[in-house]
Amino acid sequence: MPDIAIVPAPHELTVDEGRWITADPIAGAVRDVVENLDATEYRIDISTDGARLTAGSEDALRHAETTYAQLVEAAEPAEHGKVAVPLAHVADAPRFGWRGMMLDVARHFMPKEFVLRVIDVLALHRLNVLHFHLTDDQGWRVEIEAYPKLTEVGAWREHTMVGKMSHGQTDFEYDGIRHGGFYTKDELWEIVAYAAERGITVVPEIDLPGHMQAAITAYPELGNHPDQQLSVRPYWGISDDVLNVNDATVEFVKTVLREVLEIFPSPYVHLGGDECPSVQWAESEVAQKRQAELGLDEPGQLQGWFTAQVAEVLAEQGRRLVGWDEMVETDCPKDAVIMAWRSAQRGEVAAKAGHEVVMAPCESVYFDYYQGDPATEPLAIGGDIPLRKVYDFEVIPAALSAAEQALIVGTQCQIWTEYMEGPEQVGYMLLPRLSAFAERAWGSPKTSYDEFLARLRPHLKRIENLGVNYRPLD
Ligand code: ACM
Repeated sequence: MPDIAIVPAPHELTVDEGRWITADPIAGAVRDVVENLDATEYRIDISTDGARLTAGSEDALRHAETTYAQLVEAAEPAEHGKVAVPLAHVADAPRFGWRGMMLDVARHFMPKEFVLRVIDVLALHRLNVLHFHLTDDQGWRVEIEAYPKLTEVGAWREHTMVGKMSHGQTDFEYDGIRHGGFYTKDELWEIVAYAAERGITVVPEIDLPGHMQAAITAYPELGNHPDQQLSVRPYWGISDDVLNVNDATVEFVKTVLREVLEIFPSPYVHLGGDECPSVQWAESEVAQKRQAELGLDEPGQLQGWFTAQVAEVLAEQGRRLVGWDEMVETDCPKDAVIMAWRSAQRGEVAAKAGHEVVMAPCESVYFDYYQGDPATEPLAIGGDIPLRKVYDFEVIPAALSAAEQALIVGTQCQIWTEYMEGPEQVGYMLLPRLSAFAERAWGSPKTSYDEFLARLRPHLKRIENLGVNYRPLD
């Protein structure tokens, strides 16, 4: 049996006796988009006469190419400088339409070249969504022409806390290093185009109405204390400084979103919605007045109102709203796609409420969590998600009915970068956990963890060839 190591494993792979002898298996293969396959399906057929890749769409043909390239690595040298390729048949299609990874470039800015390498890694694993977390309390990373201070001011923090943040901490030691950066529109267009050529959609996230301290620092009139000059937050945790609910702020955000939509053609746009404290709204006269006008029982309900206002920009252009699972509790639009992060159970709640759901539960696919003994691993936010736990992840919660299960449109792993300063740290936390995640996102047959490891070992070389760091296997 030849050593074929395809990651993620295809649904069906059979190998026959014999070999195809060829000078160049890649150039020598025939490729076709055909009508008798579904848009997501592909086939690979290698006989003694040659190789044929067929697919139901250009996207699926790309997946065929990726699988085929991994398959022909099992070729052996033959006479006259030719190679002998195993006779194999692959029939394959992904289980889920949303196979994503979220990259937080707000807590630590990541150079464009590295974002392109991450896209290469996603393509290698036949994943199809890069969720780009572009804004947060600690930095604003997308150029907006209407409001230049968002990046002139909001993309930079004076320094960054050192060490692990603990709950309720108010005193910090700082590193004395100014940190920041942002992507120009040209750079973002380049990233979007590079991803599109590889069948990957870049879904932008503008996190609101919380996680907005960098924007409020740049434009204090967006906050609930416009007379106070904040600074771009130099430590982690959740900020009480959230957007105010004035009409002018709604208009400001709508203008920002119109520019964001010009950059990102994605049918999905993420408007955050997580971790939005309402203490400042409770104390604000403007917010109290708005709450009364709208007949809301609690200030926290202003979040749903605010999101619905700004989401009009998405609806105007036929884009779908995506939000973190708190959005379900804030009376959000029914057609919002919910990203379940606080637990898998939050995904059940969202599906039962009729939302399409992307499963991104922190207990299984938060790759900022430790993957080994904290005593010997680099500093991380907490948790415990070793490689095996990712391999064992069940995307669809068992408690759902068949109709509710159909609302689970996919899954996504998360890289939050509080404790990752740059590409090397991101690679270490991302890989090879992403390889195990890709098996679940694709719906690869679950054979055994050892069988997965046997494919993973040679696969690590492919990651190395992309120039991306990874955590060596134990
Ligand atoms: C999140 O982790 N705050 C979505």
